[in-house]
Amino acid sequence: PVHTVTTLPTTRGPGRPFDPPAELLEARRHGPISRYTFPGGVSGWLVTGYDLLKTVLADPRFSSRRDLMVHPTVDYGGIRFPPVPPGEFLLMDEPEHGRYRRPLMGKFTVRRMRLLTERVEQITAEHLDAMAEAGPPTDLVTAFAKPIPAIMICELLGVPRHDQDSFQRQFESFMDAEANEEDTVAAYVSTQHRLAELVAAKRARPTDDVLSDLTDSDLTDEELKGMALVLLAAGLDTTANMLALGAFALLRSPEQLAALRSDPSLTDRAVEELLRYLSVGKTFMRTALEDVELGGHLIEAGSPLILSYNTANRDPDRFADPHVLDLHRQESRHVAFGHGIHQCLGQQLARVEMRVAFPALVNRFPTLRLAVPDEEIALRAEISDIHGVKSLPVAWDG
Ligand code: HEM
Repeated sequence: PVHTVTTLPTTRGPGRPFDPPAELLEARRHGPISRYTFPGGVSGWLVTGYDLLKTVLADPRFSSRRDLMVHPTVDYGGIRFPPVPPGEFLLMDEPEHGRYRRPLMGKFTVRRMRLLTERVEQITAEHLDAMAEAGPPTDLVTAFAKPIPAIMICELLGVPRHDQDSFQRQFESFMDAEANEEDTVAAYVSTQHRLAELVAAKRARPTDDVLSDLTDSDLTDEELKGMALVLLAAGLDTTANMLALGAFALLRSPEQLAALRSDPSLTDRAVEELLRYLSVGKTFMRTALEDVELGGHLIEAGSPLILSYNTANRDPDRFADPHVLDLHRQESRHVAFGHGIHQCLGQQLARVEMRVAFPALVNRFPTLRLAVPDEEIALRAEISDIHGVKSLPVAWDG
């Protein structure tokens, strides 16, 4: 008999800000896949096991298409999502997906991203200087975690310096899962408008950036706009929340923090462990295109699947003591960046940012600490796709 999950959890366990909700860990204990009935009665599945999740991600019979998706928590009366706009390849299958991803791949290679290290160091140093100058306390989300990835992605896309702040703010309100619908729609419309202007500007006067390079291809302005939107949507919130939540996790584990401070050679491994442990990209959806046999179950054509990346990254069959943050952990093959054709395109950029920013932060402020009790740190609601903290008040000895 297969385990059934009736409702998706809306909160995490008390005092466990980094762990997947208890209901999901419980589902994993019953097996790598559970039944889940979507609002409106659509019958689907919830995948929590590491190996099975990778199997799904490697199988083209499970689609990423947005127009096939069923919302996991809201009943839209059987209405699925509208077709995905041109260029938004995260929510497409082959061959459309590859047509957009391919021209971007060469721009995000390990080599190219390493060349950005110095720039990331500069931006990080500027923000840490500003923090030191303003003095404690400060909110690490606004002073550190958001601006570093935002500046990097704006520079990659060629957003002019004077536009970057308002660009970022607008984009944030569009991504805010807890905002009311009217505000979200307004922010979406203006983000679309600004991106269209940006593409037109690059077409007219190309500069040295990813978007300008792409104007040299057969991609239309509509398509370029969609691609830029995916880069922003996928690259900003994820990295910002890794930096903020990562700082929170380190501050809650003084021995781990001390290890990172005393041993720079630990940095790369520490970043992979934080990626696994925090899994800020919690859940993604897929839909079966045909009947598929999976883990001993028949997944019927059209069935929606919720893939719980964060639970898979805590799979005890894969990771010893999965709920322990251990920066020395040897096993680093997590699924925090996904797997298969949609595996994170920006992972090398995210790595460079984290490898620079975490050590810089903890070394610059040897007495860094939370400025409020742990329980007062407000977490993102469980309904948002990306986990994180809303703000992270910290202090240090000035
Ligand atoms: C896809 C996580 C940073 C660009 C993904 C996926 C995950 C992920 C899990 C796969 C989604 C799926 O399976 O459907 C993360 C995390 C990040 C991060 C945890 C930060 C630590 C970035 C950055 C960029 C980026 C900085 C861009 C500059 C993308 C793109 C895709 C993607 C374009 C879609 C790839 C495709 O559909 O082919 N990311 N990401 N990500 N990510 Fe990231």
